[in-house]
Amino acid sequence: RQKVILDCDPGHDDAIALLLAARHPALELLAVTTVAGNQSVEKTSLNALKVCSLANILEVPVAKGMNQPLIRPARHAADIHGDSGMDGPEMPPPTCSLVPQHAVDLLIEMLLQSDGDVVLIPTGPLTNIATAMRREPAILPKIQAISLMGGAISVGNVTASAEFNIWADPEAAALVFACGRPITMVPLEVTHQALATGEIMQRLKAMTGPVPAFVADLLTYFADSYRQVFGFPSPPIHDPCAVAALIDPDVIAYKEMHVAIECRGQWTEGRTICDIYGKTELPPNVRVGYALNFERFWTLLLDTLQLY
Ligand code: BDR
Ligand code: CA
Repeated sequence: RQKVILDCDPGHDDAIALLLAARHPALELLAVTTVAGNQSVEKTSLNALKVCSLANILEVPVAKGMNQPLIRPARHAADIHGDSGMDGPEMPPPTCSLVPQHAVDLLIEMLLQSDGDVVLIPTGPLTNIATAMRREPAILPKIQAISLMGGAISVGNVTASAEFNIWADPEAAALVFACGRPITMVPLEVTHQALATGEIMQRLKAMTGPVPAFVADLLTYFADSYRQVFGFPSPPIHDPCAVAALIDPDVIAYKEMHVAIECRGQWTEGRTICDIYGKTELPPNVRVGYALNFERFWTLLLDTLQLY
């Protein structure tokens, strides 16, 4: 089984990414680390614990991480995810708790102790990962790869140029994208194809048990947000795509290219500059997804949810 650490900011779609990473038989989820993004790290951590309690994911440590981007004030996404960061489902308080260790310390410790066989799956701003890399560069050769949800080849979702996870902490993203380890970037072009359509919702609602019901509640709220904010007919399930990318090499189509992070643009701050045509003549540092196999993705995700 592929060892993974999920670094997330739940977040409706992060919650589903967590459920996928924890139960898919091809993965071994070593830890969940939380970061500020969709909401404060207090809120995203509480949400991670609620998901773990509900789904009985009690063997995986959950560690709270950075509450602020590296150098900027925090910017959250309450318009999409609500005041709690995971509005919608009615959830009891969690029955499990955080480990005492800081997420950055846990990341460093687990990577240093590993055989270099751990893949990081960031589905929020890259603050924890960048902080760990700065504090302990010896983790770099221990990172097998990074499969992240973030960025866009063309237009953004939080500004005209930028995608939320990169825009929320561009300096952290710049550090991670330049780290020299293999990076798979799952951008909006891919995740906007992972729509929870009416047909998908029917398949989900036909499933039994509290976990599929919870996911249906999440997606109902998420659908309202995306209808109101973007005018989308169905919501895109971003973060599970970065997990699915690791499970099934054929779920996403990729192209290797150089990607830089814009930290200073007047209009383009937080943009992922994807050099599709090799104009910079810089060597490729990222494998960028551009197309999703819709049926393959949803079958993988729904089959895994059915295991709960
Ligand atoms: C990303 O931003 C967050 O709102 C989602 O959880 C996802 O990780 C999409 O831009
Ligand atoms: Ca997220």
